Amino acid sequence: MFEVLPPLSPDPILGLSAAFKEDTNPDKIDLGVGVYKDEQGNTPILTSVAKAQKILLEQETSKAYISPQGNQGFIDGMLSLLLGETSQVRMANRVAAVQAPGGCGALRILSELLVRCSEKVRVWVSDPTWANHIPLIGSAGLQLETYPYFDKETASIRFDAMMETLRKTEKGDVVLLHGCCHNPTGADLTRDQWDAVLELAQERGFLPFLDVAYLGFGDGLDADAYGVRLMAENLPEVIIAASCSKNFGLYRERVGLAAVISNNSQTRDITQGQLQYVARGIYSMPPSYGGALVDIILSDEALTKEWIGEVDAMRNRMQSLRSMLVEKLNENGLDRDFSFVEQQKGMFSFLCISPQQVQAMRDEHSVYFVDSSRVNIAGINKQNVDTLAKALVSVL
Ligand SMILES: Cc1ncc(COP(=O)(O)O)c(C=O)c1O
Repeated sequence: MFEVLPPLSPDPILGLSAAFKEDTNPDKIDLGVGVYKDEQGNTPILTSVAKAQKILLEQETSKAYISPQGNQGFIDGMLSLLLGETSQVRMANRVAAVQAPGGCGALRILSELLVRCSEKVRVWVSDPTWANHIPLIGSAGLQLETYPYFDKETASIRFDAMMETLRKTEKGDVVLLHGCCHNPTGADLTRDQWDAVLELAQERGFLPFLDVAYLGFGDGLDADAYGVRLMAENLPEVIIAASCSKNFGLYRERVGLAAVISNNSQTRDITQGQLQYVARGIYSMPPSYGGALVDIILSDEALTKEWIGEVDAMRNRMQSLRSMLVEKLNENGLDRDFSFVEQQKGMFSFLCISPQQVQAMRDEHSVYFVDSSRVNIAGINKQNVDTLAKALVSVL
C-alpha cells in the first residue's frame, strides 16, 4: 500500500530547529520558529493563564466530551475581541462560530465549508503568505491564486499591484487577508488601504477570509481588529479564522475560532449547523482545555485586565527589539537602510537579504532563520542583538 507514496522534503523550519540544536557555538541565535520568547529565550506560561489553570483545576468536574461547536463562553469572548462589544452583525444574529483546534484548525474548517459551497472556489492569497496556508487551504480542494503583496527590493507593500490583481476577482472568489501582523513580512495594510480593500470587495463581490493569528501584537487589541471589524460590519459575508496560540501563549493547547458572518440570521443558523458538521467529520469536537482557560480569562474582569497587560508587554518588547536591532545595525556602520524593520508589526520581519546571505548567517555566524529571510523578532534579546547586528553587517 504505502510504497506508492513519494518521499517529501523535510519541513524547512523543523530542519532548521534540528540544525540549531546540534550547533555547539555558545553564541548561536535562533530566529526561526514562530513562538514568542522572553528576554531569557523562554516561552513562558502567561500569568493570567497560570491563574486560569488553577481555577479550572478546582472547577472542572468532568472530562466528558464537549459539544462540536466548543465552549460557548470562549466563542462569545473571542467574538467580542474580534468584532467589538457593540458589533451590529452579532446583534443581528448573523455570526456562526465554532471553537477550533488552533488557528490551523479554523483555517481548515472554513476551507472545508467553502468546498461545500462550491468546489470551484478560488482563494487568493498574498505573495508571500504563511507557508502553511497552502496545504491547509489547498488540501481541502480549493484552487489557490496569488496576489502581489510585498516588494523585497523596497521592503514595502505593493499595494497598487495588489489592488490591480484583486480587481480581476469575480463574485464567488475568496481573498485571504492577514488581519494584522502579516506573516511572514510584518508589513500591514494602513487604515486607508483597508478602506480601499473594503470598497473593492463591495465592487467586485469577493469574500474576505481574515486570518487573525496575532491580535494585540501589532498596535494593540482594538487597533489590530480594525480590518476585521471594517469588513465584518460593512459586507454581507466575511469569514474569520482566529488563533489563541500567540496572544494567549496557548500554542500546544490548540485553541482557535472559526467564524462565518452571513447575510441574515436564517443563513447563519444553517451555517452554524454546517460548521459543526464539518468539525464532526474531521475531529468530532475540539479539545476543551485551552478554550476553557480563555473563557475563564475573558469572563473575569481582573484576569482580562491582567491578560491585556501581558499582551501589551509582549508587543512593547517586540517593538523595542525592532528599534534596538536597527540602532545596533547603524552603530555597526551598516550603510543600508533597515528602518523598515522598525515600522513593521508583530513577530516577524523579512530582512530582505538573499538566500545565500541567509546561508552565510547560518554557516559563519550560527544565526538561524529561514531562506526567505523571515526572522522571529522575539528571538532577539539584549544579549544577542550586538552579535546579530555584527553578523548581518558582515554578510552584507
Ligand atoms: C498567519 C498564521 N495563521 C494561522 C496560524 C495558526 O496558528 P495555530 O494553529 O498555532 O493556532 C499561524 C501560526 O503560526 C499563523 O502564523
